[in-house]
Amino acid sequence: MSNKPKILIIDDDKAVCAGIRLLLEKQGYITESLHLPSGIEDTMINFRPDLIILDMNFTVDTSGKQGLLALEKIQHIHKNIPVILMTGWATVQLAVEGMKRGAVDFLAKPWDNHHLLDSVKTIFDIRKPNPYTPQHDALIIGESEILSDIIRQAKHVAATDASVLITGESGTGKELLAEMIHYHSRRKDQSFVKVNLGGISASLFESEMFGHKKGAFTGAVSDRTGRFALADKGTIFLDEIGDLDLTSQVKLLRVLQEKTYEVLGSSTPKKTDCRVISATNRNLMEMIYQGSFREDLFYRVNLIHLHLPSLSERKEDIPLLIRFFTDKTCVLYGLPPVSFSEDSVSFLCQKEYPGNIRQLKNVVERCILLNSTKDILQPKDVEKIFNANPKVTEKLNLPEVGQVTLEELEILMIKKAFDFCQKSVAKTAAALGITRSSLYRRLEKHNIPYEF
Ligand SMILES: Nc1ncnc2c1ncn2[C@@H]1O[C@H](COP(=O)(O)OP(=O)(O)OP(=O)(O)O)[C@@H](O)[C@H]1O
Ligand SMILES: [Mg+2]
Repeated sequence: MSNKPKILIIDDDKAVCAGIRLLLEKQGYITESLHLPSGIEDTMINFRPDLIILDMNFTVDTSGKQGLLALEKIQHIHKNIPVILMTGWATVQLAVEGMKRGAVDFLAKPWDNHHLLDSVKTIFDIRKPNPYTPQHDALIIGESEILSDIIRQAKHVAATDASVLITGESGTGKELLAEMIHYHSRRKDQSFVKVNLGGISASLFESEMFGHKKGAFTGAVSDRTGRFALADKGTIFLDEIGDLDLTSQVKLLRVLQEKTYEVLGSSTPKKTDCRVISATNRNLMEMIYQGSFREDLFYRVNLIHLHLPSLSERKEDIPLLIRFFTDKTCVLYGLPPVSFSEDSVSFLCQKEYPGNIRQLKNVVERCILLNSTKDILQPKDVEKIFNANPKVTEKLNLPEVGQVTLEELEILMIKKAFDFCQKSVAKTAAALGITRSSLYRRLEKHNIPYEF
């Protein structure tokens, strides 16, 4: 196997791809190109690039939206792969949006050869020897004994290939811990593939997990790569495993036991080699007792059990978390540094967080974004935001059942928040308590116009 870095260029303009490939190959890099964002998954698995150069605009669209969606897809497959964005329609806003979402550099077309080579070289210099490994343990914030103990155990089991089950209430950091285990394992240079089992219906389970061949069933218009293939040699993270129906549980158990599976429409068994980490906020023992979770599957995924404490069990970590999320929010949104006064930190420490760390993070973000003119946040600023949710919902005059559909209500609320936040996607998402990518998806779905 070659040790030369591999670079994938994604651009609908074949001449651009050819030009960049020639330039990079002269420097000893191995290159591959792709002209449509639809083939990203397969190319990433087969070519396994170390860096991606991604054009933001595809023929039909000059808004950059397609580029951002492609970036999301890339990061879904490999969260930490460096991506350089390119566009002929460079706007500062688009560049900022791309960088905020994790791109490492941004180049305007027509590109300057020296600039491009410099950017590529810097990425490999900085990231040597392994461009993927982030310091994930540094991102799990908390010094409480109860958390430190879990982190110690997690690092210990990371070195093995044992299956790990992570339990804990919603928002306690199960996914973060799963990533930490992956990045401390020998598989760290390979993919970490997350699958939300709660979101996969029984009828689509095999096609999602094992993939299918074109024509395998009505509607299979092209080949599809399954999650086990995406995760090969890496880690598969089976999130919300307690939400999996019984029929799919049997299928999952079989592949975990036999380490082989069949792609729909093909009879050749495929081998799988991946580390399995699962998570759930449900009580699987109770589910086994009730007959809704298979005991044999439980033992298969639960060689090691890690339980994350709720935030109320480690309140001493709250000030640290507030500081961490404050700095993160300011950097993310390009705001000048702000801080919470001592009194406002004490105020936040006394509150209950049923949504755990996710809720605390959300409260901190909203405090900052909705008080963006202040540099020190006082208890009254914090109190207002913190109490907003329950008060509003208590006072809400909801329409009668049958008058309006849930979808219509969602559209109304998004439009209202969007106007209130002067069409800022970041602020609207924070105000609605959802992520920006989730807001983008909803804006697209409901055809609500927006700009980056
Ligand atoms: N110890 C921590 N330090 C910093 N950030 C954290 C920590 N724990 C969780 N977070 C952040 O809180 C949010 C929720 O964490 P995560 O998604 O891992 O929780 P979860 O347990 O998987 O929740 P759910 O059950 O709802 O899926 C994420 O944004 C994550 O980055
Ligand atoms: Mg989760």
